[in-house]
Amino acid sequence: VEDAHASFRPDPEERTRELDCLYAIGRLAGEGHLPVSEILQQAVEIIPHACSHPEVSGARIAFGDREYRSDSFSETAWKVASDVVAGGVRVGAVEVCYLNGSVEPGPFSPEKRNLVNAIAGQLGRIAERQRAEDALHSLERKYEALAESLPDGLVAIDPATLTVLFANGLAADLFGLGSADELAVRPCLDLVHPDDRDRFRELVSADPAGAGLREMSEFRIARADGKEMWTRAQGARTEFKGKTATLVFLKHIAENERVEEDIRRLNEEFEQRVAERTMQLEAVNKELEAFAYSVSHDLRAPLRSVEGFSQILLDDYASWLDTQGRDYIQRVRSAARRMAQLVDDLLRFSRVTRTEMTRDTVDLSAIAETIAGELQSTQPERKAEFVIAPNLSAQGDAHLLRVALDNLIGNAWKFTRKRPQTRIEFGSTEANGQVIFFVRDNGVGFDMAYADKLFDGFQRLHSPADYEGTGIGLTTVKRIIDRHGGRIWADSTVDEGATFYFTLSPEESGK
Ligand SMILES: Nc1ncnc2c1ncn2[C@@H]1O[C@H](COP(=O)(O)OP(=O)(O)O)[C@@H](O)[C@H]1O
Ligand SMILES: [Mg+2]
Repeated sequence: VEDAHASFRPDPEERTRELDCLYAIGRLAGEGHLPVSEILQQAVEIIPHACSHPEVSGARIAFGDREYRSDSFSETAWKVASDVVAGGVRVGAVEVCYLNGSVEPGPFSPEKRNLVNAIAGQLGRIAERQRAEDALHSLERKYEALAESLPDGLVAIDPATLTVLFANGLAADLFGLGSADELAVRPCLDLVHPDDRDRFRELVSADPAGAGLREMSEFRIARADGKEMWTRAQGARTEFKGKTATLVFLKHIAENERVEEDIRRLNEEFEQRVAERTMQLEAVNKELEAFAYSVSHDLRAPLRSVEGFSQILLDDYASWLDTQGRDYIQRVRSAARRMAQLVDDLLRFSRVTRTEMTRDTVDLSAIAETIAGELQSTQPERKAEFVIAPNLSAQGDAHLLRVALDNLIGNAWKFTRKRPQTRIEFGSTEANGQVIFFVRDNGVGFDMAYADKLFDGFQRLHSPADYEGTGIGLTTVKRIIDRHGGRIWADSTVDEGATFYFTLSPEESGK
């Protein structure tokens, strides 16, 4: 053995073959797409060519529970072996042998041992890679199984390139494609209805504010069969094979659901618009009311001067004036009084709209009695009969209802002035389960052609020469009735009196 060893001379050609072998196996191992079994089968055929006598050399690789042999392999005593170790564990072995009756029997040179060790080392690295790949594959298979078991279509999209990275079978169904693989080769915008692409792009590429599902979005799928289909989608940011990806969960929306969705959205938009308009109107109203209030308020002081100084003129300078002069001053005074009345009425109107409302049970009959008493006492000489139904009450604001009845009964009193016998009635009837109150008089009445105008500001059907007034009373009453949710209307025949009806709560529909 010693002699044989001593006679051995390293042969440069052989070293080159050994290096070639290592290089070839290294290349094989680097071929990422080859399955490990293929790599090992090829490696085992390469090894004999690196030996001194390739024609009588054989190789065997045991790997896990499988074995790979070169064509020439058979068991002999002349062999050298090395364990394949991965992660500190023996996972197999490499054996190189010379066949029986070989031309050059004897021990293997140290170089051959080194070669076999080096090959075993390379195979160890392959084994390690395979373990990692196995782990990854089983993880991927788990994910795939999970994705397939979802009740939704699922597509993973690269937000940068908008390409499909992965899809499940349900998604393929939704898109009208045979398999998920067909989906994965398409630019995903092609899959979406042209009108909805912006929305889809937004869903896919929007930077998520945090983890979790992003907002719902709806869009139409442009199916492979040319049909379009509404889907509801949610996106979530994730990592897919080391890259940022957006997961899009898709649900088909049935036609009727879609319509409901439209109606819901339209309703929402409509309500939003109504709310906005109402707010604008309220703001404008408030401004106008505030304006009316401050104007009427500020007019009072100059009016008081007109009244005061004209009084002084009459008292102290009457002798300087002739009859006509005194008459002019009287006219100035009566105009100022009228104006003061107007200002007072405007202020009252403005207060009616501005004050907070309270709701109590209000005894309307008692209020009417009080008003009747007061009116009679202002003109005790008038022959008047008040017919007031007892115990009429309503839910409302006591102060506002007092103002309303003041105006209505006050009008009745005013427009019956020329009757020899005044009759004013306050009572109630019922219609559709709702109480309707009324104030009726036997006065001059009015032409029903103008009945609607009565409740507008400053509208008067009678001349101030006959019946004084400002035309704000009924406007005030209407505002009060409005605030209670009720309705007011009038009925009259010229010269036969008038009846004013009102309710104090909203009509109940369906009754
Ligand atoms: N009871 C009534 N009978 C006849 N006409 C009425 C009656 N109440 C109101 N009106 C008509 O409606 C107009 C508006 O009433 P109102 O707003 O109270 O103003 P004013 O009492 O200051 O004239 C009156 O000028 C009158 O023409
Ligand atoms: Mg009036």
